[in-house]
Amino acid sequence: MTLVAKRRDDYRAPDFTITDVALDFVLAPDSTRVTSELKVSRQGSHSKSLYLDGEQLTLLELSVDGSAAQDYQQTESGLTINNVPDTFTLRIVTEVNPADNKALEGLYLSNGVYCTQCEAEGFRRITYYLDRPDVLAKFTVKITGDKASLPTMLANGNPLESGANDDGTHWILWQDPFPKPAYLFALVAGDFDQLTDTFTTQSGKSVALELYVDKGKRSRGEFALEALKRAMRWDEETFGLEYDLDIYMIVAVDFFNMGAMENKGLNVFNSKFVLADQDSATDEDFFNVESVIAHEYFHNWTGNRVTCRDWFQLSLKEGLTVFRDQQFSSDMTSPLSNRIKQVRVMREHQFAEDASAMSHPIRPDEVIEMNNFYTVTVYDKGAEVIRMMHTLLGVDGFRAGMDEYFRRHDGQAVTCDDFVSAMQSATDIDLGHFARWYSQSGTPQLALARAYNEQTDTVTVTITQRNAPTADQTEKAALFIPLQIEFIDATGQHVTPDQAMYADNLLIVDKDTTTLTFTGKGSAITPVALGNFSAPVKLTSDLTPAEWLHTFRFANDAFSRWDAIQQLYNWCIEQYYQQQPHAVDENIWQGLYQAVEASLQETEILGECLVVPSFETLCQSRSNIDVHALNTARKAFSEALAEQLADLLLTIYQANQTDAYDYQPEQVRARRCKNVVLGLLAQLPECKDRIIAQFEASDNMTDTLGALKAAQHHDLVLFSNLMNSFEQRWHDDPLVLDKWFSLHATCERGDILAQLTLLRQHPQFSQQNPNRVRAVVGSFAFYNTTGFHADDGSGYRFLTDYLLELDKQNPQVASRLVTPLTQWQHYSSTRQDLMKRQLARLLEDSGLSKDLYEKVSKALA
Ligand code: ARG
Ligand code: ZN
Repeated sequence: MTLVAKRRDDYRAPDFTITDVALDFVLAPDSTRVTSELKVSRQGSHSKSLYLDGEQLTLLELSVDGSAAQDYQQTESGLTINNVPDTFTLRIVTEVNPADNKALEGLYLSNGVYCTQCEAEGFRRITYYLDRPDVLAKFTVKITGDKASLPTMLANGNPLESGANDDGTHWILWQDPFPKPAYLFALVAGDFDQLTDTFTTQSGKSVALELYVDKGKRSRGEFALEALKRAMRWDEETFGLEYDLDIYMIVAVDFFNMGAMENKGLNVFNSKFVLADQDSATDEDFFNVESVIAHEYFHNWTGNRVTCRDWFQLSLKEGLTVFRDQQFSSDMTSPLSNRIKQVRVMREHQFAEDASAMSHPIRPDEVIEMNNFYTVTVYDKGAEVIRMMHTLLGVDGFRAGMDEYFRRHDGQAVTCDDFVSAMQSATDIDLGHFARWYSQSGTPQLALARAYNEQTDTVTVTITQRNAPTADQTEKAALFIPLQIEFIDATGQHVTPDQAMYADNLLIVDKDTTTLTFTGKGSAITPVALGNFSAPVKLTSDLTPAEWLHTFRFANDAFSRWDAIQQLYNWCIEQYYQQQPHAVDENIWQGLYQAVEASLQETEILGECLVVPSFETLCQSRSNIDVHALNTARKAFSEALAEQLADLLLTIYQANQTDAYDYQPEQVRARRCKNVVLGLLAQLPECKDRIIAQFEASDNMTDTLGALKAAQHHDLVLFSNLMNSFEQRWHDDPLVLDKWFSLHATCERGDILAQLTLLRQHPQFSQQNPNRVRAVVGSFAFYNTTGFHADDGSGYRFLTDYLLELDKQNPQVASRLVTPLTQWQHYSSTRQDLMKRQLARLLEDSGLSKDLYEKVSKALA
């Protein structure tokens, strides 16, 4: 198979546009009829034919201005209609098969619910269309369906009329007054429980809020509805942005390829990001629900009112909207733990992507399958780039830039350059150099080194920037990096350099080498760099373990204090990995002990500091990794930490018991701290009773899951017993059972493949359901270090066998799950060979999807 990539540079404005769309759906499981009436007009003067995208459609009728079209050609991917007038009405009747749609793209039927997913290019599986984001049209949608089984039938915008037919069907007509690209179209039909509310906007308009959930799940939707109102208020207060339709609908569905989708006025959500109550959801689930609800709501302005000109510009809406939801979550909960969460995603997943064959700039240059580019790079690194602008412009400057962006571009489909240029209008800094973050892939590496000149009593701090070649780009240039940095002396006092910086604590690193000097301040100056993770870079420095502890004690920036402990852990684990655990000496253990002892009251940072860096994070600063040695080193250090701190950990565990469950910040911090500590203690033999006690006394899912995770680290018998009792309680509830699936799949045991086989035979497992597949196969491939990386390659083979099956049904999900197999770069060469051998098996499959083909072929290039 060879497939041609599309290139960003090849963008051309459309030859035709569509201004009005009238869709008419007659729903039937395997033969839904879609009639589409389009007002089409030629753009510019040319005599080209009209080409419409369309896949897997049965064409029944085609007419131009009322007469049957004769002069047209159909292919696998579209329809060409020749000799069309400059403006005309096109009528297309097609048939699709929603019941047979296992890819969950376009219109599909699952669990009796009709549902659509069109972003990026799914609308072309519903009808022939100009399926590109720079074609904006007004839609009306008529839906006809069986009245008994589909009492609720929804589409974008406002309901206009409805009625019943004699044949047991009913119909409804929806109209969306805002022109939109096809990817924001949505239709849902089914039988739901409904929650309703109203929201009064800052200008006094009343908006009806409607949330649709599975029958019987009503009470689990209340939190999401409250979160929605908080998000609506926050966007008014923070950005002056108000909702624009009379009705806002959210539907939770059980079968969904990703998190959620911002269709105009009708968001469709994976039920995992809507449903939450204390019994069934963890604190983390509540957090995710609030953040995804906010994310999709914020898209109404950053995505819908102003959309992308082409898909290469995806980060225009996604990076910006992730940044907005991060700021919201931070305001609703707490800045520190949010920032740490975001940085973990960058260090565990985005850095790995940038180091792999899938490396791409936040605005990609080349794409074979767009669905492959909904990545941590486009989303999370994209948000980091927006955050850097926020840092450089300040709160008010950033807001002024946003105001200008909407003033210029409301109602348009635009580019990342358009966004930067709106921001440019609000600052004196020239963003020209900064904008290279949009075009350059890879993780910049900053190295910080010091030298002391006794004669002049001068410390010189040199920061070098290196941008190594990546799979997609050989030529790199220095980036414009805002580096938050503070300096402390031996007594813990803050000192400032001889040179002026950009602002207090902010240094612009925009060259290969940047130098600062400190004269007359002694030799012991500790730089604390990358405060608040001010840029998405890797940083190495010449700090000693004692200096990391010093940093923890005296730095002002809370993130840097946390990071200092992480760097220290990383250093310690490296000693274990190098077979010299004794290098982690009494001084270091004592220093750590004192650091923890001094922080007993600071629950938030304490809880985060007691988390040992993940295996995935450790990999990002190493190469030629011996997986088992590193994993073992990590565990040995973690166990030693538990032993060394055992009495303190017990104190913390007891001090952080919470009252009756409530999802509120103070309790969340206490539970987090308590469960992190339990995880550490679980490595010690005497912890068994404590784990059982927590499991039995728990009145909420957070503590229950905390106990199960601890048991997983403690011993297999205890783990199995608790897991069995959990299953008895929750076997009817797939969403909760996903946690159970995932715990089983991440358990490091010799017979893990047999376990996976059992899980796949579980009555609640279904290969059609992406949540189940991710819980079992995804958890294994991403997080079961010993199982996935078994020395005989059996873990890689298992994943490959599975993907060969799954790809035939759901290429999008298969393509996500192949990721760990494509990220072989950090491992030893024998392991790389084992991984590539399996990738090669995938590539041999002649029926491989575009999705998998793109990732696998790159990984083998
Ligand atoms: N726009 C959606 C969101 O971020 C995600 C759409 C993902 N689409 C895909 N094909 N993977 O909220
Ligand atoms: Zn989004």
